[in-house]
Amino acid sequence: MAEVVIVENAEAAGALVAQEIVELIDGRPDAVLGLATGSTPLPVYQALRERLAGRDVSQVRGFALDEYVGLDPAHSESYRSVITREVVEPLGLDPRRIHVPNGAQETIQHAGADYEEAIDAAGGVDLQILGIGTDGHIGFNEPGSSFASRTRVKTLTEQTREDNARFFDSIDDVPRHCITQGLGTILRARHLVLLAFGEGKAQAVADAVEGPLSAILPGSAIQLHPHATVVVDEAAASKLALADYYRYTFANKPSWQGI
Ligand code: F6R
Repeated sequence: MAEVVIVENAEAAGALVAQEIVELIDGRPDAVLGLATGSTPLPVYQALRERLAGRDVSQVRGFALDEYVGLDPAHSESYRSVITREVVEPLGLDPRRIHVPNGAQETIQHAGADYEEAIDAAGGVDLQILGIGTDGHIGFNEPGSSFASRTRVKTLTEQTREDNARFFDSIDDVPRHCITQGLGTILRARHLVLLAFGEGKAQAVADAVEGPLSAILPGSAIQLHPHATVVVDEAAASKLALADYYRYTFANKPSWQGI
């Protein structure tokens, strides 16, 4: 099962995950990071700003999880823009090494296969950062997604469009389609780190970690991964049946073991 780490708040989660990433980069300067967008990973990126300052990160590579289809990459809410603003620029990464699925309508037929090829050519993702939607999606793999799926176009649920409307002027501006790494793509990363904060994510987290493996809850796919870490605050942990056991396990973890 996934290792669940319950922390005090999002800041503590950011510090924990950032430390893991710093150690990864120290051991492998051209590490391949799997980058999520949305609000959840922001404390990680914030913590990385301080921890990576002054280090050579010129070799670090990255692959975003997903992108909206048909949204101008220059739009402030395209994931290309978000990754540039929140990750590439503040961390001083080389933009040529950071990939985002291509959501342009003209090339969408082969954009998924192209992205899979690029991930393969990089040797796969070392550490994949994940958030989770209130409907249990990871990446933009909405309920019903195949556990074997690869990067492809998906239709966003109305729930996800409503959740993401806060980033746009109105819900009408939220695209209906996205291109996302598949669950099968995500499962090929060597280490999955799923973060979630707040009560609104509690049910999705409990279902993903402790519920049955099911396409209706795409996040449950992490149960198939040999090295998955779930970092949650108390509110997001509030529906976990084994919360006390996770606390006990983490408190007694050998100091030589990372997350
Ligand atoms: C974003 C992504 C999504 C988000 C999820 C949660 O790249 O893949 O799965 O992680 O929608 O979004 P937030 O973090 O905004 O609650």
